[in-house]
Amino acid sequence: MRTILVVDDEPLVRNLLADFFGSHGYEIVGAGDGQAGIDLLKQRKFDLFFVDLTMPGMGGIDVLREVKALDIRIPSIVITGFGSIPSAVEAVRLGAYDYITKPFNLDDLMITVNRVFDLMKLQKENTVLKKQIKEKYNFKKLIGNSRQMQDLHRFIGKITDTDATVLITGESGTGKELVAKTIHFNSSRMGEPFVPLNCGAIPRDLIESELFGHEKGAFTGAINSRVGRFELANGGTIFLDEIGELPFPLQVKLLRVIQEREFERVGGTRTIKVDVRILAATNRDLEKAVAEHTFREDLFYRLNVIPVHIPPLRERDDDVLLLVSHFIEEFCRRKRKPLVKVSREAGDILRNYGWPGNVREVMNVVERMIILNESGEIGVEDLPQRIMESRGNGAKLHPVSAVAPPADVPVPAQWTEAGVDLNGILEEMEKKLIVQALSKSGGVKNKAATLLGLNRTTFLEKVKKMGVSAPTSGS
Ligand SMILES: Nc1ncnc2c1ncn2[C@@H]1O[C@H](COP(=O)(O)OP(=O)(O)OP(=O)(O)O)[C@@H](O)[C@H]1O
Ligand SMILES: [Mg+2]
Repeated sequence: MRTILVVDDEPLVRNLLADFFGSHGYEIVGAGDGQAGIDLLKQRKFDLFFVDLTMPGMGGIDVLREVKALDIRIPSIVITGFGSIPSAVEAVRLGAYDYITKPFNLDDLMITVNRVFDLMKLQKENTVLKKQIKEKYNFKKLIGNSRQMQDLHRFIGKITDTDATVLITGESGTGKELVAKTIHFNSSRMGEPFVPLNCGAIPRDLIESELFGHEKGAFTGAINSRVGRFELANGGTIFLDEIGELPFPLQVKLLRVIQEREFERVGGTRTIKVDVRILAATNRDLEKAVAEHTFREDLFYRLNVIPVHIPPLRERDDDVLLLVSHFIEEFCRRKRKPLVKVSREAGDILRNYGWPGNVREVMNVVERMIILNESGEIGVEDLPQRIMESRGNGAKLHPVSAVAPPADVPVPAQWTEAGVDLNGILEEMEKKLIVQALSKSGGVKNKAATLLGLNRTTFLEKVKKMGVSAPTSGS
């Protein structure tokens, strides 16, 4: 039940309000003077209070001042006699929601009260939403403790609250969109729209209208006029994803918007001005595209005012297990499962896997493992095939071109009519390399592992699995 306090020195008014609101399901508490009202407000929680402006002793304005000074957060409606409107206006300035003049019409009163409650509800929802968004795109949600990610956090922190154009680069799944949202939702534009547009996902002939809108009849099918993304983003941020896919003719038009912040709708003559921050992202090498004349050089420089590069996950393997635990927590919470653990061995393998799909791949792999897991711990046998098979192939440490075998391991050419037994050959080769490493290291396993670019655990597993007999050694 909602509770309303009525602070008025006239018993008649207190009774009238008590009867009326009481019959509508509210609890009404009365106070006969300002001080009594303040005392009650300090003691218990009310949803709303009425206060008379003219009372002997402490008047309504003083009550409002005191409420403000005490930082009691409660909406108020001021009751004023006919003719004291100016002080009512002052009351509103002091934070009162509205005022009503005596004698009052009870229906109007109800409308005013409902409006206050609606507004309170909206404000509350708004605060919750804002908090959620802030929480969601809090810097801490950009998981990563590696040196590269720490640098990235610091750098993003410096550039969020500027209006500068940012070009975010990185392989697929590294978190470009997440970084764009983090920038927007931590900037002063956070209350304004964040409007994404994937330039690679829209048919070429529709991109212009998507970006700038069109007027009715601009082209076949343009039955109505339409607002483009730049107009939608006015006051906020536009995120031009996969900017490398923007067709050449449109690059000129974008250049003009970046320089002048103005454009015309397709088929329109009116120039539209907007205040929009531009963030762009690509997983293509734009400098190369410039060299190949598929991307305009002037546009590249206009976009690349602040470059933000997100390194691939294989270059920051310190982040892998952190991300794994982060997604485990998230999925377990979402699926209402008890928290699943990862065995040390499985953790080692995950950490050393190359993650070509970057963070998105981690997320998908973790989700799959959580769904399938029953034991409460993810062991080596629970890892997806490709990750198991990646074990210790060192792929992540060397670019593919560098994985040529050393001269003393000839590639066995055992081609037959049926082809070759690739797995057999690889296994054979692996075994030979392990033996060679062990002999080069004088049987010191740690050193042999290092020579092969493997961690100790993976190395020992291989030795065991392949039954390689090593010269007896220290460790
Ligand atoms: N550092 C991170 N911490 C937590 N989650 C992350 C991180 N990086 C990426 N993610 C999550 O991984 C997923 C992929 O990220 P995102 O979509 O931002 O990548 P992208 O670089 O835009 O990929 P693409 O080029 O394929 O569009 C998202 O769900 C994102 O929330
Ligand atoms: Mg993306």
